[in-house]
Amino acid sequence: MNTTENPTSAPKDKLFPLVATFGITHNLLGEEIDPKLSLKGFDQHPDAPAVIPYYRFNTETFTHGAFFLMNPGKGILFLSGPQGCGKSSLMEQICARLNWPVTRVAAHEKMHVDDLIIRWIPDGQGGLKPVDGLLTKAFREGHVTIIDEVDSLPPGELITFNGLRDKGRLVVPATGEVINRHPNFRLVFTGNSNGAGDQTGLYAGIKRQNAASFDGTRCILVGYPPPEVEEEILEAVAPALGKKAQLDILQKMVSLAGKLRQAFTAAGGELAVSIPLSTRSLVDWAELTLQYKKSPAPLAIALDLAYANRLDEDERMAVHEAAKLTFDHHWQ
Ligand SMILES: Nc1ncnc2c1ncn2[C@@H]1O[C@H](COP(=O)(O)OP(=O)(O)OP(=O)(O)O)[C@@H](O)[C@H]1O
Ligand SMILES: [Mg+2]
Repeated sequence: MNTTENPTSAPKDKLFPLVATFGITHNLLGEEIDPKLSLKGFDQHPDAPAVIPYYRFNTETFTHGAFFLMNPGKGILFLSGPQGCGKSSLMEQICARLNWPVTRVAAHEKMHVDDLIIRWIPDGQGGLKPVDGLLTKAFREGHVTIIDEVDSLPPGELITFNGLRDKGRLVVPATGEVINRHPNFRLVFTGNSNGAGDQTGLYAGIKRQNAASFDGTRCILVGYPPPEVEEEILEAVAPALGKKAQLDILQKMVSLAGKLRQAFTAAGGELAVSIPLSTRSLVDWAELTLQYKKSPAPLAIALDLAYANRLDEDERMAVHEAAKLTFDHHWQ
């Protein structure tokens, strides 16, 4: 396949100071990071994700993520953790700040990885012609490729990815083309399990993958951010919420989220819910509370919209009871 390159639009390398760019001040040993230390990125890239301004990095997961981006070896990065805790956005937001291009794919149980390699489109003469699928384009052009919910793939579909990792090249079966891996290509998996199936029984649709498929992945366990960080996130998302009636609303929101996460994992407890109140839902709750500030019960309406309406009615009522207890007379 002929490729034409436009040298004027090719992204140029650019160094970004780590401390100033990511707000990470200490390394894993607790030592202060030299403010002159920088990470390699690009001046700009059309496929770089948008920066989420309120995003907060955590020393441990950031360090592992950034190490992988800079020194992937032959590996694949695997981010494992509960729903909506910040798995996909960790790598996406590191890339957003460094202008690395990102391709994201949502895996599912009927997906064929071959469909990511080639697509057939009308050639204008009544036939079809092959074009790069998402994975092929990313492999050729050097994108960080995030395969979300990888543990919902049918076992066996992961083999293609391992071939990319081990051989460093991609053979397009339909055309016989051999593509060498671009030096900036990175492969990142995310999932709620660690590939060994879901022992907790909490997540639907998770397949037990062939253990060999995950051999050679670097696995980072991502959890919900600690309460003080979630409070900071909410403060950045909705600064107006924190001040009302001297009540630290943000702190109560985070505290309720903690209780509902426990209620999700600890089956049989007094409070049991089938969905945790994730960081994603917390952010939505805060944003919606502001949007509904002229309504009779902004916090309660926003909690329903962001989270509780997805539960069954008994659970939803129990959540409102827990919220009343947490927020006391400030709950409407
Ligand atoms: N560290 C963080 N700082 C700010 N916001 C965050 C952070 N982590 C998560 N969020 C919020 O949660 C949302 C969901 O994050 P993300 O998509 O990364 O979660 P996930 O773990 O990949 O979710 P899923 O389990 O659904 O795949 C983000 O868009 C952002 O709004
Ligand atoms: Mg995700």
